[in-house]
Amino acid sequence: MKIAAIASSQESLIKIKEILETNAHQDQFIFLERRDGQLDIDRLDLFSTNILLIDVENISKLDLKAISACTKEHPNPAIIFASSDTKNGQMLELMRAGVSEVISFPVSEGELLGAIERLRSRRYISSTYRPRGKILSFVSAKGGAGATFIAGNLGYALASDCKQKVLFIDLHMQFGDASFYLMEAAGPSTLSDVISQTGLDSTVIASATVQVADNYYLLQAPDSPDKAVGIKPQHIDNLLTVAIQDFDYIIVDLPKEIDAITMKVLDRSNNIYVVFQPVMAYLRALTKILHLFNLLGYEPQKIVTVVNRMDSASAISLDKMENAIQKSIDWVFPNDFLNATESANTGIPIQKLQPYASISKVFSSVAHEIAELQPATERAESWFSKWLK
Ligand SMILES: Nc1ncnc2c1ncn2[C@@H]1O[C@H](COP(=O)(O)OP(=O)(O)OP(=O)(O)O)[C@@H](O)[C@H]1O
Ligand SMILES: [Mg+2]
Repeated sequence: MKIAAIASSQESLIKIKEILETNAHQDQFIFLERRDGQLDIDRLDLFSTNILLIDVENISKLDLKAISACTKEHPNPAIIFASSDTKNGQMLELMRAGVSEVISFPVSEGELLGAIERLRSRRYISSTYRPRGKILSFVSAKGGAGATFIAGNLGYALASDCKQKVLFIDLHMQFGDASFYLMEAAGPSTLSDVISQTGLDSTVIASATVQVADNYYLLQAPDSPDKAVGIKPQHIDNLLTVAIQDFDYIIVDLPKEIDAITMKVLDRSNNIYVVFQPVMAYLRALTKILHLFNLLGYEPQKIVTVVNRMDSASAISLDKMENAIQKSIDWVFPNDFLNATESANTGIPIQKLQPYASISKVFSSVAHEIAELQPATERAESWFSKWLK
C-alpha cells in the first residue's frame, strides 16, 4: 500500500517516519510537512495513495475544507486524522468531512498501526497497488567475473531490443562502476539523493536517475563511501517497492559481500544471476555462494548461473563445470576482449558499439528470453543456441 503522511512539524514527521518504517510490510511511504501551515493535499498523487495520515494539535476549518474536497473528488485515499482536539462536536465534523479513522495527537505506535490495519483489512484499499516490474539482481561469484558488464549490457538489450522500461540500480556502496559501462561521464545524481528525500515516489526516482538510452535509466551508486552512510535496508526496500510500479525490470548490481542491504535485495529479487568465469577459483567461489543461497532458503529456480568469458581455449568444459557445481549452467557469454574493453573505455553499451558481434547477439537472445518475447529469426540460430547444441 502507498501511505502518505502530512505532519504538522518536523518533530512529528520524524516520529511518524520511525513508526511506519520499522513496521513496513510491502508498503511504500511519502512523508511531507505542512506548507505554511496548510495541508496542500494536491502535492500527492491521490489516485495511487491508499492512506493519508494528517496530524495537528487543533482542528481548523481550513483543514476540514481541504479534507472534504479530497474525499468528495477521490475514492482514495482513506484518511487517518490525529488530533488532541476531538471533543465538542469536532469528531462529528471530521466524520462529515470523510475522515475514516481518528487517533490521538501526538501519534502513538499502537493507535496508528491499529488504524492502518483496520483500513488494510477493507478490501477496496489494497486492490489499487499493482506492481508491474521484476527485480533481477546480479552478483559476481568472485570479483571481476563480469557481473556489472553483463548486468549493464543486458539492461540495454531489454530496453532497446525488447522495448522494456528498465531501471539499473548500482548498489556498490563503495566505488560503484556501472556508469563506466553505460555512459561517457558519470551523471550528477546518485542513490544518496533519493534516500535523502523525505517523500519517495516515482517522480523522486525519475529526478535522480540518468537516462542512458530510450527506456533505460541508471541510478548511480553514491559517489563516495561516506555518502552511503545512513542508507538502510528499509530505504532500499522502499525504493524497490516504488520502482516496480513504474518499470518493467529493475536490474540491481550487488556487491559480493552479503550484508543486511544485499540480503533485502536478494530476498525481493525474482531472479538472482551469479556470474563466474570458466576457471577453478571461480567455480569454488560459485559452489560456496550456491550453498549459501540454499541455506537462505532460495528456490533453486530463482538462481541463474552465468558463465562469462567462455572460449575455445577454456580448459574446463560446460559439462565439467555443471558436474562441479551440481547445477546446470543457464547462460554462456563468450570472451570478447577487444569489444568489451572498447565498450568499457567509451561507456557505449556493447550492442550499440558492435551490434553484429557474437556477444551482442547473446545479449539480445537472453533479453528476449527474460522478456518472454520471440527473438528475431536470424537470432534464433545465435551463437548462444549453437553453443548449447
Ligand atoms: N565477456 C567478456 N569478454 C571480455 N572481457 C569482459 C567480458 N565481460 C567482462 N569483461 C571485462 O572484465 C572486466 C571486469 O568486469 P566487471 O567490472 O563487469 O566485473 P564485476 O564482476 O562486476 O567485478 P567487481 O567484482 O569488481 O564488481 C571489465 O574490464 C570488462 O570489460
Ligand atoms: Mg561490478
